[in-house]
Amino acid sequence: MRNVSRPSIRQGLQRFPRQARSLLPTPVHRLDFLCRPGGPQVWCKRDDLTGFGFGGNKTRKLDFLIAEALARGCDTLIAIGANQSNFCRVAAAYGTASGMQVHLVLGGKKPRTPTGNLRLDHLLGVTCHHVASRDWDDWAATAIAVEARLHDQGRNVYRLPVGGSTPTGALGYVEALAEILDDQKRLGVEFDAILLASSSAGTQAGLVVGQAMSGWRGRIVGMTVAKPGQQQAADVCRLATETGRLLDVSVTKRRIIVDDSQLGPGYAVRTPQCIEAVHRFAREGGIFLDYVYTGKAAAGLLDALNRRRFRKTDNVLFLHTGGNLELFE
Ligand SMILES: Cc1ncc(COP(=O)(O)O)c(C=O)c1O
Repeated sequence: MRNVSRPSIRQGLQRFPRQARSLLPTPVHRLDFLCRPGGPQVWCKRDDLTGFGFGGNKTRKLDFLIAEALARGCDTLIAIGANQSNFCRVAAAYGTASGMQVHLVLGGKKPRTPTGNLRLDHLLGVTCHHVASRDWDDWAATAIAVEARLHDQGRNVYRLPVGGSTPTGALGYVEALAEILDDQKRLGVEFDAILLASSSAGTQAGLVVGQAMSGWRGRIVGMTVAKPGQQQAADVCRLATETGRLLDVSVTKRRIIVDDSQLGPGYAVRTPQCIEAVHRFAREGGIFLDYVYTGKAAAGLLDALNRRRFRKTDNVLFLHTGGNLELFE
């Protein structure tokens, strides 16, 4: 692992085109309701407030992905996800606001009344192609067919994978690690751990690469919400390695920490611990989480605090990655 000084993260990112619709930097504040005198201090970085298109972690990824699409001369965007995809909602907003034609390939039966994210997709006026299947391969096959049709119509298409988790998308979270280092400086604290929800792996992979570039010494703990721990760790490792290659950085496997203790029966299946975390954050902190991603990550945080897994002197950063439009489904 290369240990270089902090500014090299931003220097390394300089040669990548980037749009800047995210309202950055996002705030960091203490979660008083989780801090006990003489115990670990718990902080929250509010990436639910990245702002554009209702925010969340996807805005940071799309800052780089949309810039790459425009640099390649693309005029049409295809994004893939479930009916309630946070990523598709931000991609739709970002693409249309950047003058692109946007097509969403949405998995799951077309609901009679659109709610949550899907309602915003409709408001944005993008074309939704519904695939009545839960199988990601079916969604991908439809996206390929839609792309072929658009090519025949003379469109120049940029197709995004589920979650925008390509090495280019992950650059958004390489940059976020630089921002977290700035947060430390501003607040006069050193974080010992960052805890976040991990699914298509781009967020965690980007942070891990930022860590490799900066030599930041804390732990990045991905709470997996979709796949078993080993599989998720392998996905994060693969994407971090590919992202590192773009920046000439190598990533060590031991930096990749995935915890599957809050996964429960599977993706988007609510667990009692997740429900409790969503309630506590809302009622004691005034912070809205969701039941698919951040609720499970917060359940992992509460569990670790209960079990005294952190040292008394630790500063723990919970990364709120957004997704709370799910509450309006
Ligand atoms: C709200 C929210 N948090 C966390 C994640 C996980 O991020 P990643 O897919 O980059 O692992 C997602 C992904 O869809 C998300 O929507």
